[in-house]
Amino acid sequence: MTTIAVTKERRAGETRVAATPETVKKFIGAGYSVVIEAAAGAAASYPDADYEAAGATLATSLTDAIGKADILLKVRAPVDEEIAALKAGAIVAATLNPHIEKDALKALAAKGATAFAMEFVPRITRAQVMDVLSSQANLAGYRAVIEGAEAYGKAMPMMMTAAGTIAAAKVFVMGVGVAGLQAIATARRLGAVVTATDVRPATKEQVESLGAKFLAVEDEEFKNAQTAGGYAKEMSAEYQAKQAELVSSHIAKQDIVITTALIPGRPAPKLVSAEQVASMKAGSILVDLAIEQGGNVVGAKLGETVVTANGAKILGAPNLPGRIATDASALYARNLFAFAGLFLDKEGKFAPDYEDEILKAALVTQGGAIVHPALTA
Ligand code: NAI
Repeated sequence: MTTIAVTKERRAGETRVAATPETVKKFIGAGYSVVIEAAAGAAASYPDADYEAAGATLATSLTDAIGKADILLKVRAPVDEEIAALKAGAIVAATLNPHIEKDALKALAAKGATAFAMEFVPRITRAQVMDVLSSQANLAGYRAVIEGAEAYGKAMPMMMTAAGTIAAAKVFVMGVGVAGLQAIATARRLGAVVTATDVRPATKEQVESLGAKFLAVEDEEFKNAQTAGGYAKEMSAEYQAKQAELVSSHIAKQDIVITTALIPGRPAPKLVSAEQVASMKAGSILVDLAIEQGGNVVGAKLGETVVTANGAKILGAPNLPGRIATDASALYARNLFAFAGLFLDKEGKFAPDYEDEILKAALVTQGGAIVHPALTA
């Protein structure tokens, strides 16, 4: 019988878990056996007893959990101790962050692991159910607004009270991908007045359909800023200057700015300058969701809240999905369950088809080597 192992996340600050009692039950229904390391789901509020009730075996040590497993499921890249415990040729599926976590990648290759980076799953229709970037970015966008609202010393909605009227907060969302769209929707639900910007023209209609106002330099370059894959291109210095000028007068009037702008494989673009931060009112909040890719806000610091001289706060919290760990784990675990469905043949037998375009795109190490073209070049 094919055995799946799920261990505690060992990377700093990671609260999510790669399987929930729900997915354990489904894996067992699909013919797998599942071993869960004790307390693997504790930080995400999934108790050991629920995994056992779903049919998993509990392991008290890491080696017991991993040693016999054919498949190791993780949220983040496994640490050395976990890689060392892997059986030769075992499958590992995780958000491996392979461009950055190069040592883990090399160690996985050296161990002979067949490792899949979940962030490389292509965004084709068949793979939507496996799209961890979307499932997690959506929750990050939601959580960014909650964090911003929490740090903000005023109310989000307009309120008419006997003691006078409170104005609605002005929220500006920069970067309208999956996270940005959910940030707009969440800020609107809380009653804020929302504006948003992006370099991809397709986002204009999406922003407006959520009841927010769109703000962008809509020149020729903007009209061509979307790649065939639906991602943003890196914009020219000239465009960025025009964008900065347009955004400057706007930012000075905002209460909360949420930045989510990313360009695949590149550092995050700097969208908010030190001068723009300095132009904001005391008590204004900036939430930099791109902080793990270098940040969109000049002066943002990973893992810190920076209070500026003018009294604005820049929130640089990493891993916002980890702050909503129960739901983030539930969605991530379902993504992994769907992905693991590709390891089975039509009869339900474990026989991964490495020619399948999804497995092929996500495969990063196999047979002792790093095999993904984006990582070997
Ligand atoms: P992302 O996380 O790569 O980037 C976030 C946003 O930042 C993007 O909207 C991007 O255009 C924007 N951005 C980049 N540079 C900017 C700048 N200088 N100024 C302002 N904004 C900037 O994006 P995400 O969320 O991964 O979505 C990318 C695309 O993929 C979207 O078109 C989305 O609809 C599409 N998508 C397709 C899916 C599918 O077909 N299965 C699933 C999820 C997303």
